[in-house]
Amino acid sequence: MVLKEVGSTNNYLKDLLSNSKPVADGTVIMAESQYAGRGQQQNRWHSEDGKNLTFSLLLKPTFLPIGQQFDLTRAISLGVVSALGQATSENVQVKWPNDIYYGDKKLGGILIENMVQGSQIRNSIVGIGLNINQVDFPPEVPNPTSVKQILHRDYDLKVLLSQICANIEAWYLKLKAGRYKEIRGAYLEKLYWLNQERDFASDNESFKATIIGVRNEGLLVLSTKNGEKEFNLKQIQFLNK
Ligand code: BTN
Repeated sequence: MVLKEVGSTNNYLKDLLSNSKPVADGTVIMAESQYAGRGQQQNRWHSEDGKNLTFSLLLKPTFLPIGQQFDLTRAISLGVVSALGQATSENVQVKWPNDIYYGDKKLGGILIENMVQGSQIRNSIVGIGLNINQVDFPPEVPNPTSVKQILHRDYDLKVLLSQICANIEAWYLKLKAGRYKEIRGAYLEKLYWLNQERDFASDNESFKATIIGVRNEGLLVLSTKNGEKEFNLKQIQFLNK
């Protein structure tokens, strides 16, 4: 379904789910314009009207053990990265946990909201925002780039959306088939800054470290001068040059 204007496609799907009618697995809601787009960690998601992809996908991964939620994050990230890699260049990577990067710049991001009941993920709202045909960004948007800035031409939004959905479906089917090893390996292969010594900050202190892996449940593992350390999203910042 394509909406002309909505606050946030994630909220729209959430509202649909709270009305009594069932919403089908695989439903996609795309907005041409979002006036209250939400990003990770309570940030706003900015997107110029009609230029980009802002959409949410409903999945019902009831087969996935609750402790393996991060494998869903991996599968979705891989779907988006493979589709954008095919559309642009193989330099599209995932910055842990699920930012989409081209070189050192952010092409887009993913906001997954899982609704858990007992030990099951009943619904997962997968919100995806990607910069496609926008070339001017407000100064408060850190480090942006877009498909147009890479290709120097416009890209058809609907075509790209269907390529992304097809790629997400392929990775989601691997997840459903329990092919975790393959998903985890592919995620690491696409991981931004893997095995490179870089600058990070944690607790207001900056330090050099190397990403050496990601725990099954999603913690980032860094090798530091004080040994191996694990971080969650709130505990670590990547410091770009
Ligand atoms: C991030 O902070 O990097 C995640 C951004 C996610 C933005 C998308 S746009 C479609 C969906 N609806 C929202 O309100 N947010 C997500």
